[in-house]
Amino acid sequence: MQKDKLLMTPGPTMIPPRVLEVMSRQIIHHRTKEFEAIFDGLEEDLKFVFQTKNVVLIMASSGTGAMESAVVNMFSPGDKVLAISIGAFGDRFAEIAKTYGLNVEKLSVNWGEAVNIDDVRNILEADKNKEIKGILMTHNETSTGVTNNVEAVGKLVKGTDRLLIVDAISSLGGLDLQTDNWGADVVVTGSQKGLMSPPGLSFVSVSEKAWEACNRSTLPKFYWDYRKYKKGILKEVSENPPYTPAISLITGQAEALKIIKEEGLQNVFDRHRKLALATQKGVEALGLKLLPKQEVSSYIITAVNAPEGIDIEKVRKIMNLKYDIMVTGGQKHLKGKIFRIGHCGFVDGFDIIKTFAALEYALDEVGYKVEFGASLSAVQKALV
Ligand SMILES: Cc1ncc(COP(=O)(O)O)c(C=O)c1O
Repeated sequence: MQKDKLLMTPGPTMIPPRVLEVMSRQIIHHRTKEFEAIFDGLEEDLKFVFQTKNVVLIMASSGTGAMESAVVNMFSPGDKVLAISIGAFGDRFAEIAKTYGLNVEKLSVNWGEAVNIDDVRNILEADKNKEIKGILMTHNETSTGVTNNVEAVGKLVKGTDRLLIVDAISSLGGLDLQTDNWGADVVVTGSQKGLMSPPGLSFVSVSEKAWEACNRSTLPKFYWDYRKYKKGILKEVSENPPYTPAISLITGQAEALKIIKEEGLQNVFDRHRKLALATQKGVEALGLKLLPKQEVSSYIITAVNAPEGIDIEKVRKIMNLKYDIMVTGGQKHLKGKIFRIGHCGFVDGFDIIKTFAALEYALDEVGYKVEFGASLSAVQKALV
């Protein structure tokens, strides 16, 4: 029997049928009134999801492209930045900054932990000459299933000349991220996770302070030059966006954001929280342990330590091939040591229940002692 694979991964995530339907329509031209209305609507809805009054740029790239765009638009060669890294994606941000010749001070923590705000404060206070021009941080570290406290870092940066640049690629649309209230100057995200669309679009919110930095920045840029995208959005030029956009993805994304608006942002956050807490209960009922401490465990992805002596890659393979449910493995040095259950975007309680049913079968098949139904009962109770 051929069924759709259920992606319980942190991206790409499942796509609502309404979005699929819109994207399957015949292409329209991007220099038309019809496209303009869709694009303008998307811009407004992005502001709503980013919780910002800033211009939100719409570009064609994966999330990493948007991270790179933030670096080349905000800084000049030799500028010093503080890169907070709590996992693979924090490392990537630091790496991008190094690639462009920035002077990177890296604050790393053990994988599975969130950054300690006192450590950030101490570094900024020790920087008497204000050499640190910006902070790069990951909101939700997908590789370890940990959420950082952006609001607290924002408080350290607000009212200073420093920029706070946030990778919200796996958090936006799933976790509360109050761009303006928290003082996040540049927030980057991608279409393929909480925003319930296929990969290929990236979105960047840019504050007034960040636009000033953009005008000062001397790093080379052409396709990524934020000013060109802004001019179109503000209707200062007729070409909006400046280059051929990913038209079908944009129409799909516009539909996906309508769905988010219909549900309501707070309801979306509450749903992710509820699914995460139910997942944690299921994990516990199986005698398994989370990688992070529960207090910092992400609401969009749950990272679980592999049980002693169990080949977790085999478990994932059974879930995928026999039960058509994909969960993700560990990255870098955590490969084979953890697995990660994504509950991000177009996900409901029954998806979690199915995932645990498959996990129980797969664990049993590789010899882990499972009491059938134990995790399902825990998940169901948590979902009531
Ligand atoms: C937190 C985070 N940052 C960056 C990325 C990279 O995004 P992309 O794979 O779309 O380039 C991801 C994707 O998994 C992510 O989860």
